[in-house]
Amino acid sequence: MDATAQKLERLVDRLGAGAVLTEHGDMIRYLRDWPGDVEGRALAVLRPDTTQAVAQAVRLCAELGLGIVPQGGNTGLTEAGTPQGRDQVVISLERLNRIRSMSPDDFAAVVEAGCVLETLKAAVDAADRYFPLALGAQGSCQIGGNVSTNAGGINVLRYGMTRDLILGLEVVLADGTIWDGLSVLRKDNRGIDLKQLFIGAEGTLGIVTAVAIKLLPRPEHVETALVALPSVGDVMALYRRARPACCDLISAFELMRPEALAFARDAYPDLAYPIPPDYPAYALMELTASGPIDLRAILDAFLEAEMEAGTVLDGVVAASRQQALNLWKIREGMNEGQALRGMHLRTDISVPLSRVADYIAEASEAIAAALPQCDCAAYGHVGDGNIHFNVLPPRGTERAAALAIMAEAKSILYAILDRFDGSISAEHGIGRAKKADFTKRLEPAQAGMLIAIKQALDPQWRMNPGSQLDRPQ
Ligand code: FAD
Ligand code: LAC
Ligand code: ZN
Repeated sequence: MDATAQKLERLVDRLGAGAVLTEHGDMIRYLRDWPGDVEGRALAVLRPDTTQAVAQAVRLCAELGLGIVPQGGNTGLTEAGTPQGRDQVVISLERLNRIRSMSPDDFAAVVEAGCVLETLKAAVDAADRYFPLALGAQGSCQIGGNVSTNAGGINVLRYGMTRDLILGLEVVLADGTIWDGLSVLRKDNRGIDLKQLFIGAEGTLGIVTAVAIKLLPRPEHVETALVALPSVGDVMALYRRARPACCDLISAFELMRPEALAFARDAYPDLAYPIPPDYPAYALMELTASGPIDLRAILDAFLEAEMEAGTVLDGVVAASRQQALNLWKIREGMNEGQALRGMHLRTDISVPLSRVADYIAEASEAIAAALPQCDCAAYGHVGDGNIHFNVLPPRGTERAAALAIMAEAKSILYAILDRFDGSISAEHGIGRAKKADFTKRLEPAQAGMLIAIKQALDPQWRMNPGSQLDRPQ
């Protein structure tokens, strides 16, 4: 029996056949990333169903010298969850998916890492509370993955990133030690806040096995509007006026442009556009509140004044929850439609709010000049200064040519971004896809601290090897 077969036998013996997948056909959905652009390799996929079983798996991997790639819903967009070889295993958290406690009186819940975000949100709703994290992948992504990527999504401008919604964590460290940091205390200044290290670490420091989350009152009123404007600059100006005028109750403010809207219809051909799809720019905005307040009147008064002033060209306010969901489907369809186009450059950048319009204008011009054969789609959470500026090679472009176009587009977009003092990762993380661009922009002091933290918590560099940082030679 060769060494690989021996390791597999040890994994199955110790963890049980039900918790170990070894056949390529069974493993494929854990090996490919969401867009299907990359397929990794692994010795096995481990599927523990308790924290103790995760710890046992981690200790066994240490004994066998195996690297570990934690995985949640595998919806990440940075290749961070994709294993790199037969000397690594995937540890999937999907079976660790219980709600341990739901405490409406504490405005808190404790849930296991493998809870699917949408399922978790529904359980919170049934307890008359609200968990505001919301993103297009919520039907598949898991709370442990959200923590590990510090996911953003559509409600950040009101409720913050995932980090702002976390009260405590339970983590299996790289040596198999279980750290129980599952406090639901809302204020706790006892020294360094260790949970912050694991939020956004993309599985490089430990495996999150459970999460204490903050809950909010369930919003009784939600109003959603899609409005058309003459330019991206006008969308941003509308945002500046809308915040105070709408009593600072805006929970989402998304930019869409006509070319991105067209992708939504590629994904959902029956999708209804409630206003013409060829205005220069759109804002999809949502207001949320509870208690004795007439949210609809606030939104109507704001939009009427804007239309009278001629700043808003056209608009629709959803008359029902179903109509609101249809508006959000346009936004969600943009990702699905682009995925149908094949390999393309997805970016996830942020710039100061005051520079969003200038960035999009400059980037659009530069890409049109250098890569006139490509389509662009610029959209995103502009209330946070976060733009997904994507560049799509012509349909049918073969892989090598598409990769070359993507590399050129990226260097153009990032060069402009550096001049704007922006970030190459507003919300998706670094993973493998952005590692080179991330590390070359690190300040020496920042690189030194990141390496020291990694070395302290994972001295063998076994947790998600090659993601975020390479081990110094
Ligand atoms: P995975 O993809 O499985 O893993 C992501 C990273 O976290 C990997 O490094 C993995 O190793 C690590 N990891 C996963 N679980 C654990 C764990 N329990 N312990 C330690 N490490 C772990 N992201 C946004 O921020 N905002 C958006 O609006 C948004 N929209 C999206 C829309 C679509 C259609 C898609 C496909 C993706 C979108 N994403 C968005 C990206 C993605 O959904 C998020 O990054 C999400 O948080 C990933 O969760 P996951 O469970 O799928 O994690
Ligand atoms: C979105 C993902 C791509 O905002 O982050 O649609
Ligand atoms: Zn996004």
